[in-house]
This record gives sequence, C-alpha cells and structure tokens, in this order.
Amino acid sequence: MTAATVTLTVNGKAVTAAVEPRTHLADFLREQLLLTGTRLGCEHGVCGACTVEIDGQIARACIIFAIACDGAEVRTIEGFDDDPVMARLRQAFTQEHALQCGYCTPGMLIAARDIATRLPEADEARVRVELAGNLCRCTGYAGIVAAVRRVLEERRAAGEAGVSAPSPAVVRGPAAPIPRPAVVAPTVPGMTSAGPDAGMTTLAQSFVVRHPRARVWAMFEDVERVAACMPGAALTEPPRDGHLVGRIAIKLGPMGATFAGAATLALDQAAYRGIIEGSGRDQRSATRAKGRIAYRLIEQGDGATRVEIEVAFALAGPLAQFSRAGIVTDLAGRLTAAFAENLQAQLDAEASGQAAPAPLEAKLDAGGLLFSVLWARLKALFGRS
Ligand code: FES
Ligand code: FES
Repeated sequence: MTAATVTLTVNGKAVTAAVEPRTHLADFLREQLLLTGTRLGCEHGVCGACTVEIDGQIARACIIFAIACDGAEVRTIEGFDDDPVMARLRQAFTQEHALQCGYCTPGMLIAARDIATRLPEADEARVRVELAGNLCRCTGYAGIVAAVRRVLEERRAAGEAGVSAPSPAVVRGPAAPIPRPAVVAPTVPGMTSAGPDAGMTTLAQSFVVRHPRARVWAMFEDVERVAACMPGAALTEPPRDGHLVGRIAIKLGPMGATFAGAATLALDQAAYRGIIEGSGRDQRSATRAKGRIAYRLIEQGDGATRVEIEVAFALAGPLAQFSRAGIVTDLAGRLTAAFAENLQAQLDAEASGQAAPAPLEAKLDAGGLLFSVLWARLKALFGRS
C-alpha cells in the first residue's frame, strides 16, 4: 500500500511522517513516534485505553486513521507531564489507590482531566457517567472515581473552574459535503415541558418534504411506516396505545451496536407535533441509551412541509464517549437525510398510487452508511469535492 505524508503536531512538536493509509493513530504514536504511553486494549473503540486529545477533545486513537489527523494537534499522556491539573490527578490516583496494573491509567487520566476541566461541578453520578467509556479490569473503579472527585473538590476549593476547557472540534479543509446538524438548545415550541435531561447531547435538524402537511402528518401517524423510513430502525411489536417496542442498529467504526428498548409516543394533532421518549440497551457492549425525539410539521405555503426535529440522547457505558464525537453528529445528519429521502419516496408513491418503495433496511445497510460518513469526512479533510 502506498504511504502518504501526514503533518501534525504531537505534544507541541511538529511532526511530518510517511504513514500507510490503514495505520490508525495509536499505532502511529506508539510505533513511529515511540510514545508508548498510549495503550492499546480492544482496538475497537470500546475500552478507552488509547484515549488521547485531538484538537482539545478526547478521542480514541485506535479508531481514527493517522492520515485523517493531518493538521491536527494531538496530545498524548506524555504531553501532560507539566500540566498542573494532570499533576493533581496523578497524585490523587496514588492517594486513592486508583490503579493496580496501570494499563488503563493513561487513558483514564486523560478522560479524568477532561472531566476536571470541562465539568467542574460534576457530582459522583456525573463522574461515573463520564468515565463509563474507560474500562479498568483491576480496580473496581471506586478509587478512580474518588480520585477524580478529590481533584474536582480541590479545584472548587481553590476557585479554579474550567481552566483549560477543551476547544470545539475542528474540521480542517472545506466544509464537509454532508448535512451537519447544529448543536443547539431545544427550540421546538411546546415540546420542552419536560425537556431533555442535563447532560444530554441535543441536535436540531430540519428538512422539507414536497407534500402538504395533512398528508405528511397522516404518514407520521402511521408509526410503523415512519419507523421503516429510518435506516437501522425496526418495531419488534405492533404499537399499542402509544407504546412502542423496537430496536435501532448503529455502526460506528468497527463497532456495531443494536439498542433494543421501549418508548412512548405522544401526538398533538392540532399542533402537528409529536414526542417520542424511550430508552434501550445494547446487549453486546452493555451500553445504555435514553433519548427523546420531538418534531413538528410546518406548512411551507408552496404545497411543501418543513419537518423540524430535535433529538436529545445520552449514552452510559462503554460507548458513552461517542456522545461527544463529531462523527455522531455526522451520522445523525446522514440518518436524517436518508430518513427525509425515503419519507419523500413513500409519499410520492402514495400520491401516485404506485407500490411503496422497498423497505429501507434492504436498500441502505449500516455499513454503506458508515462508509459514506467516513468518506465525506475524509474528503473534507483532504479538500476534495
Ligand atoms: S484500544 Fe482504543 S478504545 Fe480500546
Ligand atoms: S489498573 Fe489495571 S486495567 Fe486499570
């Protein structure tokens, strides 16, 4: 395979190196730069041992290609030697017996520093949620949580908060040619009475369907048809009195997760609004998810309907760190675009009296979706159209 040249900053030093396109960042750091503090456990994005910072945000070095980090600032555990927050964490880990073999510790420390700087008011429950994406096979976690809490308390007592909060994710090169949902506060009127819980990731998106609102609403009332429009989603029992049971399969990098669970649906016909709230669990990774989808239909005046959607979700467990990864928002954008396209196709077929298009799951497999997401990001990074 032909090597490519990558230029990035690692622990404050400019690095230019030849890498094979298939080399992931963790291998590049360990084998080419000899920064062996970055550990490899699962190499599937699950255990968090390889956690580093990329452009100020924690990320898993085993599931990002080194070449995709062109222009990035990467910070490994070695790059925190002189960091005062990390110095406190190291001391607290010792005091609280937060390590045994130490294999998970570099990744755990980087995740802990992210909590200490980003969430200065975090309580024990929040610390546990935030650390859920870093696995330790030795300690039982009590000491790790105690160490992080000790540093949080020390920083609060010293009047320090968010001293070096992570910077927003950066996408280098031209804008990615995919819908990038804005991360916003809830905006859909009438849908925020309960509102998303604190700590949920919230995305707002909208799209236009070329059919009148009454027709689109009739489609939204048929939950089974709407579910069939979402790639990876399926109802596993007939809906009953607003209670839904189903699953949604998602693929991120080498990982696949299938969240099975239950939800409730509340419709406000007069206002053309609906809310779906539910929770589920991926059995394989033991990751738990809860989420809330609020939507409303707005008549455009030209015979078309704008669909506004607000999604709030939270993950707890081994896949929790992906709540903050840019790729999740990309994936959400792709899913919404595919959903809109297939909703349109269903309505077109209905209006023309033709047979409905083939079920979406047969047309759009998760692997293809993932590939298109990754490819779009790579194209953006390398400036190709
Ligand atoms: S080695 Fe990267 S998450 Fe496990
Ligand atoms: S201290 Fe051994 S894996 Fe965490």
